[in-house]
Amino acid sequence: MTQPAFLGIDVGTSSIKVVAVAASGEPLAISSSPMAVSVAQPGWSEQRPEEWWVGTCSAIKEVLTAIENTEILGIGLSGQMHSLVALDHAQSVIRPAILWNDVRSSTEAAYVRDKVGNESLRQLTGNPSLEGFTVTKLLWIRSHEPELYERISHVLLAKDYIRFRLTGELATEPSDASGTLLFDIVKSRWSEEMCQILDVDVDLLPLIIDSASIAGHITNDASRQTGLAEGVAVVGGGADNACAAVGAGVVTPGDVLFTVGTSGAVVSPVDLPLTDPGMRIHSMRHAVADTWYLMGVVLSAGAALDWWRRSSGGTTFDELVAEASTVSTGSNGVTFLPYLTGERTPHADANARGVFFGMHGRTERAHMTRAVMEGVSFALRDSLELMTDHGVSPSEATAVGGGARSNVWLQMISDVMSLRIRTVGPSEGAPLGAAMLAAVGVGAFSNVVDAGKAWLTDLEMVEPDRSQRVAYDDAYGRYRSLYPTLKSSFAEHGRATEPEVD
Ligand code: XUL
Repeated sequence: MTQPAFLGIDVGTSSIKVVAVAASGEPLAISSSPMAVSVAQPGWSEQRPEEWWVGTCSAIKEVLTAIENTEILGIGLSGQMHSLVALDHAQSVIRPAILWNDVRSSTEAAYVRDKVGNESLRQLTGNPSLEGFTVTKLLWIRSHEPELYERISHVLLAKDYIRFRLTGELATEPSDASGTLLFDIVKSRWSEEMCQILDVDVDLLPLIIDSASIAGHITNDASRQTGLAEGVAVVGGGADNACAAVGAGVVTPGDVLFTVGTSGAVVSPVDLPLTDPGMRIHSMRHAVADTWYLMGVVLSAGAALDWWRRSSGGTTFDELVAEASTVSTGSNGVTFLPYLTGERTPHADANARGVFFGMHGRTERAHMTRAVMEGVSFALRDSLELMTDHGVSPSEATAVGGGARSNVWLQMISDVMSLRIRTVGPSEGAPLGAAMLAAVGVGAFSNVVDAGKAWLTDLEMVEPDRSQRVAYDDAYGRYRSLYPTLKSSFAEHGRATEPEVD
């Protein structure tokens, strides 16, 4: 007898992950294909969509091999937000994808800000013009590679390119469209006004379907390359942060999610398209009907600890974190700003760079490691504090991502935020959320709330240790004081301190 299952595919920056989930919610098999990022010039960050496809095919095949006698009923996609894929009229990829953490488009971001104006940007898109958003990358191609720009017929986001390879359909859905700066998050349609002001042909943009609607079916060609049966339904899916929220049950207004992956994010669903007058936090459509979310983004979260691991002698995460747990809160006076590739929330500053502050003769590696983990936690607190201006005042939150697998980091986040922090199982995050959207899309559940009730269970609840409160507040105060002091130095020297390129 065959058992029904759903597949979730996440097109991440450091890997493509595929998970097969039984109708009961039990993960049956998981596989991932590591991905490298190419840094062809300082501040650039690119990947080849063909490599995503090859990685996706191999991870799907591995999962399918591990689960015999299973029928995949539906597939959901999630992926890194904002990353731009450009196709020509023959639907071939024109150039490497320009990723979410690529900061080459500062001039174009300023151009959009000047041309549209901050208040109109807020009204038309709900979001600020920053290097991370897709349209600034598109305009960079227009200014720097005009002959390529002329050839662009279709603009896609990362997971939508994989959808195209799986189904032949050119489509996206509201949660990822929200990260382009060409999408009206209130009306849930492409903003013709934005396209007109910026002279971008709206026909370059794909069809928008709902996150839990069927967008297409596995083609014969994709079936041969992946081993999936021809005709399996592929749903809209969602942006990785939206899918991580779905996969952790964070779908109800007032809930809060902390993700600690390559990037970090604080996500809080809202039932109105709230926007921040100062536009320091993002406003996005959720992958759930009639729901939006506020989001703060820490560009280097797990990436900062990974950088520190590589730079401090290549020990394992577990060893480093165990060492950090032996030293006390405040890292013996050391503060770390995790702005390795600039920072999104709250500074919106592509020039900012990483800083260690306060070392002295007794500083050891354990203090530096702890300072990195504290710095990322403080960066997340910055985002949460901005959200409190919009009425977000949780007493508990959920955490997902690699960082949430470390009890030391979970406790730290709980202490820094003074919040109870929950982890949920299964803990696959974004690909699990994508699989959940697939289950809803093919009718196994009527909505993601019901799917979450059936599939998710609380694993752990970490209580904040009140005895650490004063020490963390002091350390956070030190952290907060550094950026304003360094802002002008970052503007002058930030990009001059770029490392050698790959
Ligand atoms: C969100 C963002 C990142 C990427 C990471 O705005 O840029 O969190 O989605 O994949």
